[in-house]
Amino acid sequence: MPDELLHLPVIQSILAREKATPGALLPILHALQDALGFIPEAAVDEIAHALNLSLAEVRGVISFYHDFRTTPPARHTLRLCRAESCQSRGSEALAAQLREQLALDDHGTSADGAISLRPVYCLGACACSPALQLDGQVHARLTPERLRALVNGCLEDQPC
Ligand code: FES
Repeated sequence: MPDELLHLPVIQSILAREKATPGALLPILHALQDALGFIPEAAVDEIAHALNLSLAEVRGVISFYHDFRTTPPARHTLRLCRAESCQSRGSEALAAQLREQLALDDHGTSADGAISLRPVYCLGACACSPALQLDGQVHARLTPERLRALVNGCLEDQPC
């Protein structure tokens, strides 16, 4: 079954539930990403039609917010904190280490689908800066060595 048909029941269910909500576009996009891990291209047409918006309006909102994904997520998501406390404790150097080790930018995904990088602005672990979140779990008091070990663990983790 083509991917666009695979996701259609989820898309239609979310649209039926949310389209009457005032300012429905963002709640719909969030619900889709929560349900599917990303916003498939097939959803853009369906959303535009349901909300009487142009395709460009829907795509513009998706591209404006970095947290919305238009491709399936990687197996691991690493969010390095870039806010003030972590910056003062070396997060920019850790970000540079990540970019170099993975050959990705701050919002990139590795070609093998192992890991995605996303910046985040405070994880509530300021007292233990610098910090990151890996697959929802916070790791604090990072060092270059700990960061490299975490990333290596992700890269060694093969898909089932
Ligand atoms: S500034 Fe990084 S956890 Fe708060």
